[in-house]
Amino acid sequence: MLEAEILPQAFSTIISWYRKNRRALPWRTNRSPYGIWLSEIMLQQTRVETVKPYYERFLRELPTIEALAAVPDDRLMKLWEGLGYYSRARNLKKAAICLCKDFGSKLPAEYDRLRSLPGIGPYTAGAIASIAFGLPEPAVDGNVLRITTRLLADASDITLDKTKKKFTELLREAYPSGEAAADLTQGLMELGQTHCLPNGAPLCKSCPLRGLCLAHQRDETDCYPVRSPKKDRKVEEKTVFLLHCGEKYALCRRPNRGLLAGLWELPNTAGHFTAGQARQYLEEIGIAVQDLAPCGDAIHIFTHVQWQMTGYSASVQEPHSAFFWKTKEQIHSDCALPSAFRFYSRQIK
Ligand code: ADE
Repeated sequence: MLEAEILPQAFSTIISWYRKNRRALPWRTNRSPYGIWLSEIMLQQTRVETVKPYYERFLRELPTIEALAAVPDDRLMKLWEGLGYYSRARNLKKAAICLCKDFGSKLPAEYDRLRSLPGIGPYTAGAIASIAFGLPEPAVDGNVLRITTRLLADASDITLDKTKKKFTELLREAYPSGEAAADLTQGLMELGQTHCLPNGAPLCKSCPLRGLCLAHQRDETDCYPVRSPKKDRKVEEKTVFLLHCGEKYALCRRPNRGLLAGLWELPNTAGHFTAGQARQYLEEIGIAVQDLAPCGDAIHIFTHVQWQMTGYSASVQEPHSAFFWKTKEQIHSDCALPSAFRFYSRQIK
């Protein structure tokens, strides 16, 4: 079969398969363009099971684009706490403000206009256009690249932009409209998450594309997709302090720019300190501590950097003004403390 014939056949197979086999997910029940947009942003780099409760809580609290545009930043961060990649939430709010100002508080049913909004790249614009509006626009993510490179036994390096562009064009030429566009986009994601799995583990026996897939026919599914090796992540060593004064714990605000911008954090500093160095460091910034003791090591991996943390807990006599002092309940209800600190924040009693 020619390449040009494989894709349309695969598309109609995926659509029929999806209609019979789709999982019931909250954003498939509520089909509003706003809900679909929100789900697509939350689902970037984040697993379906993780997203479900966040999605439902977010929509309950901010049911409209107007409500999102008006939400205070601290509340927005609290709703996003633990999901990671916080700029996604900030861009959602920025885009909601643009939508209220220039688009009648509605998402536009047009790919280029969607693309013009903060936080909406080619993938998200394609997903909203096809799922919410039935436009013939593909949404090319890692799932789609894995399925199509295997289907066509294509050895292009999927980490390159030009590969993403090539597949976007190839898919667009054969993409259907209407309900079929919505079902194809979601069907591709579903197939990529349930059958065409990464890391040498695809479930080809039950895959609806097994009769068409060139990599499967050649017993070469583990050869695709081809990706050039990732550059190593930078390692940053940190010492984290869990300081309490009576019922209250010390927190700081991260700077307004860069990694985890504007979120809360536990006091920390660069480098791995011994207990003696930790005590001395705190004394130098004017904090006399008692009962300083190690409280464990932790690692947190971001996209481009890895934190290797060592921690100390200590009690302090006075609530030093360098920090904000909050009770466990206040931290829980008001402060978005990123998962990077979870190993330590779990110890807050
Ligand atoms: N990943 C990205 N978008 C998705 C969707 N709509 N359903 C399931 N997984 C997804």
